[in-house]
Amino acid sequence: VIQPYKKSLKAEVGVNKVAVVGAGLVGGSWALVFARAGISVKMYDISLDSLNAAVVSIRSSAELLESQGLLNSRSTAQIMAAIGTTDNLDEVLDGAEYIQECAPERLEIKRALYQQLGRLASPQAILASSTSGLPASSFSSDIQGRDRCVIVHPINPPHLIPLVEIVPAPWTSKDVVRRAAGFMVAVGQVPVRLEREIDGFIVNRLQSAILGEAFRLVEDGICSVQAIDTAMSDGLGLRWCFLGPFATIDLNAKGGVADYCKKLGPMYYELAKSQADPRPWSEALVHEVESQCREMVTSENLDSRKNWRDYCLAALLKCKRAFPQ
Ligand SMILES: NC(=O)c1ccc[n+]([C@@H]2O[C@H](COP(=O)([O-])OP(=O)(O)OC[C@H]3O[C@@H](n4cnc5c(N)ncnc54)[C@H](O)[C@@H]3O)[C@@H](O)[C@H]2O)c1
Repeated sequence: VIQPYKKSLKAEVGVNKVAVVGAGLVGGSWALVFARAGISVKMYDISLDSLNAAVVSIRSSAELLESQGLLNSRSTAQIMAAIGTTDNLDEVLDGAEYIQECAPERLEIKRALYQQLGRLASPQAILASSTSGLPASSFSSDIQGRDRCVIVHPINPPHLIPLVEIVPAPWTSKDVVRRAAGFMVAVGQVPVRLEREIDGFIVNRLQSAILGEAFRLVEDGICSVQAIDTAMSDGLGLRWCFLGPFATIDLNAKGGVADYCKKLGPMYYELAKSQADPRPWSEALVHEVESQCREMVTSENLDSRKNWRDYCLAALLKCKRAFPQ
């Protein structure tokens, strides 16, 4: 008998209408997440071109999910019928109970937009931001009903990567945090909650540590870009795909995590000291990394590589669903 590893959060249903504000790369993928869960979605953007491009990209992503049996028994046609578009902010907010903001990562844009959302959205609606790094306190401090604001940060593309980071501002109501997390469970995402704001949240802090070391190894001529990517894709990434770093080390010593730390803690401490001094990624270093990347994939092949990545992620998602943790 395998003991379940994760305590699961309770799904919170009750949201029937979602507004996606900003229909770029992330907004389109979010719309697919909500429509896949049977929820009616409307996307808003200031650019009609963005709205049209989002519809094309959602259709092709939905076709991929349908081919992999990952559309909750829905058809691409049903998904497309559940998603509307508008360039009118009043219209998108009308009756929306949950608003996923996906505007560009620029503070002045988010600040101005949140002023409008504060005035126009229903007082009960959750105002969830997709921001990758701006704390919610930086753009929601002086809006009406600021206790409705919370960060719900996806990992791109959210229709293939379920994790979301839920980060409250100091004034976010506990009820909003609970409802946002519960709603994410209801639409098939996997939320993790942070107790308070911190730059980079969890994922980008971890990613920053890994990228910093990866660039350092290349800069010091220790190994190639490909060697590092392989160390991840055939090594740590594969292992971490089912179990995170703590659960991993819990299994890597006979006496569990405490035994592991006793045996290897001093080694990691010495390594960490040699990694403690962060370095900027110099132009020359970026040039070197780029030329090695272009040897692996030419510029013309980046789009087809992205499609291949999405196909692999869909297959992996299917596999993970077959082996719940
Ligand atoms: N791309 C990623 O990998 C990723 C991952 C996680 C989170 N995010 C975050 O999601 C948000 C959106 O990122 P993206 O990559 O989709 O950007 P994007 O540039 O692809 O899309 C942004 C969209 O917002 C629209 N827009 C501009 N001003 C607007 C306004 N005032 N109101 C409504 N729409 C407006 C633009 O026309 C554009 O279509 C950012 O905060 C970003 O940090 C991005």
